[in-house]
Amino acid sequence: VLLVRRRMRSSGKWAVAEAILRELEEKCATPTAKLRRVADAMMVEMHAGLAIEGGSKLKMLISYVDNLPTGVMVKVFEVLNEKGLFYALDLGGTNFRVMRVQLGGKDNAIKQEFDEVSIPPQLMTSSCNELFDFIAEALAKFVATEGDDFHLPPGRQRELGFTFSFPVRQLSLASGTLINWTKGFLIEDAIGLDVVGELTKAMERVGLDMRVTALVNDTVGTLAGGRYSNADVVAAVILGTGTNAAYVERAHAIPKWQGLLPKSGEMVINMEWGNFRSSHLPLTVYDYTLDAESLNPGDQIFEKLISGMYLGEIVRIVLCTMAEKASFFGDTIPPKLSIPFILRTPDMSAMHHDTSPDLKVVGRKLKDILEVPNSCLTMRKIVVAICDIVATRGARLSAAGIVGILTKLERDAPKEGEKQQRSVIALDGGLFEHYTKFRECMKATLDELLGEVSNSVVIEHSNDGSGIGAALLAASHSQYLEVEEE
Ligand code: GLC
Repeated sequence: VLLVRRRMRSSGKWAVAEAILRELEEKCATPTAKLRRVADAMMVEMHAGLAIEGGSKLKMLISYVDNLPTGVMVKVFEVLNEKGLFYALDLGGTNFRVMRVQLGGKDNAIKQEFDEVSIPPQLMTSSCNELFDFIAEALAKFVATEGDDFHLPPGRQRELGFTFSFPVRQLSLASGTLINWTKGFLIEDAIGLDVVGELTKAMERVGLDMRVTALVNDTVGTLAGGRYSNADVVAAVILGTGTNAAYVERAHAIPKWQGLLPKSGEMVINMEWGNFRSSHLPLTVYDYTLDAESLNPGDQIFEKLISGMYLGEIVRIVLCTMAEKASFFGDTIPPKLSIPFILRTPDMSAMHHDTSPDLKVVGRKLKDILEVPNSCLTMRKIVVAICDIVATRGARLSAAGIVGILTKLERDAPKEGEKQQRSVIALDGGLFEHYTKFRECMKATLDELLGEVSNSVVIEHSNDGSGIGAALLAASHSQYLEVEEE
């Protein structure tokens, strides 16, 4: 009798867990028709954000990049010839990167070296000076290792392209004020300051003589880097710690732009799509919990459904509910489970990709991370199912975002009597690179939404395009260009 009772109790527990799972699946569903509504809403918000400052949750920031590297670079190389040494600095996720790039020379080759430093977590919520001092010091150390392969002509100041991946209101290509932080950073005293000014002061404090000639978002850097190698690149998307997109807009389609119209007639727009929000988004009670507990409640809702910083955390929150309501992990709730962000997206991805018959990897992760010593196969299968639901929703929504951009550019449907233009989207970020099921689902959804047009839309992985792009933009805005041209 005891045995039967125990069996009944345990089957009751799985039934509750199954019910929670089914409900999650239902609430996270993204059928094609819903995704089309998301894509259309994205397109409508793009228009609104371009019309007037503050016209939409989509900030649609003007990047001051109005001439992408192709074409211009030939001239830049001619002028600078083999003398083009540039630095790039990339701040925006859990790591930050410093990089030097030698441009020009034979075949316009690019020679590069880089170093990656992880940002001590306490710096992400410290003070403006502490953060920038840390960066400037790391940069100075890196500059000190410059070897003979890199040439800086005598008397010339080193120049830097600064990739700063947060919302910035640019005042010119080389200056801009921070609007707000995202992705786990929150340094109040930096908001409203010119980040180039702050970096420059920090470089002076450590005795580093360097000039910032371009300030770019990672999406804009990726677009520039992508366009350099492929003229058909029309947009760039980052799927990493955060998510965002930039694309090339016709200057006269930007009513809020008050400056002179650029010669090229084009302007790169940093959408800050992470802050997109629409009633069509499939939000669940778990998403509301995550948002309420985040550093930026109410903000970056699209990002919180999609990006690497949050996917693992959503899974953790679902598991918390299962632990409470279905005694999923037994009579007690594993204490580790209540630590926010303990389940990282790379761990979620490892569990999701587990192909062993007994889901060994899932078992090991549950043990190592949550200290759940004995997980049975049913439990492991449910965990994988949660990962699948959460990742699928994120991947499908990111595809809808891309379709929104293509719709805005009128590249989402065949045009009668015209040959379909090729549209290349440069993609970068750890989530895209390492989470295979996410990447594949995103691509498949794009095909599903685009139908026959999908043949002319290409997703291209632009590996560290943002660093090279920033260096290229720094080069094409070098203080020495005009002088040498004369
Ligand atoms: C966040 C930032 C945005 C950046 C993106 C990807 O959404 O606000 O500027 O491009 O993360 O790094």
